[in-house]
Amino acid sequence: MKIIRAKDYNDMSRKAANIIAAQVILKPDCVLGLATGSTPIGTYAELVKGYENGDLDFSGVTSVNLDEYKGLPRTAEQSYYYFMHDNLFSHVNIDPANTNLPDGMEPDSEKACSDYDKVIESVGGVDLQLLGLGHNGHIGFNEPGDVFKYGTHCVKLTDRTIDANKRFFDSIDDVPRYAYTMGIGTIMSAKKILIVVSGEDKAPALRDAVCGPITPACQASVLQLHGDVTVVADEAALSLIK
Ligand code: F6R
Repeated sequence: MKIIRAKDYNDMSRKAANIIAAQVILKPDCVLGLATGSTPIGTYAELVKGYENGDLDFSGVTSVNLDEYKGLPRTAEQSYYYFMHDNLFSHVNIDPANTNLPDGMEPDSEKACSDYDKVIESVGGVDLQLLGLGHNGHIGFNEPGDVFKYGTHCVKLTDRTIDANKRFFDSIDDVPRYAYTMGIGTIMSAKKILIVVSGEDKAPALRDAVCGPITPACQASVLQLHGDVTVVADEAALSLIK
């Protein structure tokens, strides 16, 4: 794993955006795996700047997102569909037809997941996968457990994740209890992985992911087995790693 130390959140965002920009410039028809959450917001803002400056062209890019809440319509502000449009897709020239997320409104979980696996297969796999890191070591919504799951699956969110995500909802009761997420096998099939981590509250999870045993109890620890992972983290997040 390559660890890039950033001074703070803005520096992390610039560095991560530069890595994604390089991917888009070198392979204009690349497939980007994208994440939501607070951490990549600055990275997306930097990519939007790059587009506005004329440095970046997203017209050939295809995207597949990691996850989506089950049961939230695309119009809900908390849906990941809405997030991606609000933070990136509406501000750059990516073709909306080439942006993909699991269908949160498909009530049949098996169908939603197998449809999404077919989408990922049809785009030819992911060139660069962007990830955030959960406080419990989750990537996508692959929550701590006994196994690493391969493909897209429906997960029951842990109380910790529900609590962490309640800030986006009016009340904790409004946070969906289930989500569809890309599996660890699919994430590990990406050619390159970029994980962005910021803040002291993420330091234990980052330490466990990078230096701890490889275990499904910390799903991100599996990244130690991938041949091309770049961690871009700020000093606070790296504070427990020597
Ligand atoms: C979001 C996702 C999650 C987040 C993680 C960190 O698509 O897959 O794994 O990356 O929960 O979220 P933030 O960045 O909000 O701390």
